[in-house]
Amino acid sequence: MTTNDKAHSPPRVRTRAAELCDGQDGGDQAPRSFRDLSLDERRAKLAESLGIDKTAILRTLEGGIDGQMANQMVENAVGVMGLPFGLGLNFVINHKHYVVPMAIEEPSVIAAASSAAKRILAGGGFEASADDSIMVAQIEITEVADVAKGSARVAAESSTLLANANAACAGLVEVGGGAKELVARDLGEGRLVMHLVVDCRDAMGANSLNTMAEAIGPRVAELAGGKLGLRILSNLCDRRCARSKGRIPFKALASTAEEGRLVAEGIESASRFAEADIYRAVTHNKGIMNGVDAVVLATGNDWRAVEAGAHAYAASKGRYAPLATWRVDQADGSLRGSVEMPMALGIVGGALRAHRGARAAVDLMDIKTSAELAMVAVSVGLASNLAALRALSTEGIQRGHMALHRRAHDPSAATPTRT
Ligand code: MEV
Repeated sequence: MTTNDKAHSPPRVRTRAAELCDGQDGGDQAPRSFRDLSLDERRAKLAESLGIDKTAILRTLEGGIDGQMANQMVENAVGVMGLPFGLGLNFVINHKHYVVPMAIEEPSVIAAASSAAKRILAGGGFEASADDSIMVAQIEITEVADVAKGSARVAAESSTLLANANAACAGLVEVGGGAKELVARDLGEGRLVMHLVVDCRDAMGANSLNTMAEAIGPRVAELAGGKLGLRILSNLCDRRCARSKGRIPFKALASTAEEGRLVAEGIESASRFAEADIYRAVTHNKGIMNGVDAVVLATGNDWRAVEAGAHAYAASKGRYAPLATWRVDQADGSLRGSVEMPMALGIVGGALRAHRGARAAVDLMDIKTSAELAMVAVSVGLASNLAALRALSTEGIQRGHMALHRRAHDPSAATPTRT
């Protein structure tokens, strides 16, 4: 595992997040929402609330890497592909106020998530939690004559194997992580798979896990009495889940509490539709991933890994299911929603070493651990889902979405007030 590469470290930035929230433009005139400011005004406002030189923040937000860096990051590089980088607002998670960086090409996702976060804020904000950063690398052994005896021989030598795995990733051990256990799985037909369980701390972990699995694979195969197969992490990191929940008082869902109750019932019904039908569940989950992926991308994390893990987790109880669900609480006069999914994110190593924009995105949130970033990402996912279900079960998705889409192609078009 590696920490920040000092040679490429952009300026560390801090934000007083609440200052950027909707309707908190400040000044002596009537407050204008952050969204209604011009691009330059928004940048100036961000720089001001970060308390840093405007040019420094602008440099980090204009793409984050140049062609030379792209050339160091991937093969056959010829340029850099840009994406809009925006801020999700109104996110209060475990009583901490976040300005959430989101990188996404789709209009309306950032506005919708910010608007939904504001509704959840009316109920006290998000309550989130995350597991420790436990990941699994698989070591596959085939042609094992006696799987029970083979796995017993591996178990007998597990402390040496774990020590050898840790020796291959000393940096991870130094920061308190490392290989913790070896778990045998008999897949039948002489195929034994050993799960090497590793605490990755604040890294996403792929490199460490693969290095460790490759380091001990040959000895594991020898002990098991079989042929060494694949050695690779699993993206179904179901021991590294994050979850978030929120409640929205009926009156924060519409202009009156009675209308809000009807909206809440519509959202519960939309949730039940996804719970009953895989064709709907996948689209419901796509709406969650709109928010999650935007945060994952903005922070330089591996969104393909997060996507793969999310959908495998959605199907892990034998039937593909929605990752977030909603229920009306009539007694409380509110709608309650929750989400849970694997979330393997890093705040050190990977693209963060090279990508100034990604580094600035993590710094913007003043994130201290990868678990904290995971809680933010799933909360944004829950907000995106709420916004989508609210729109779908009331006016339909197209009105707000298409207004923002038109704006994307015609900057002079009016900004819609909500999605
Ligand atoms: C569009 O990007 C996302 C939605 O389809 C999600 C959903 O249907 O819940 C609107």
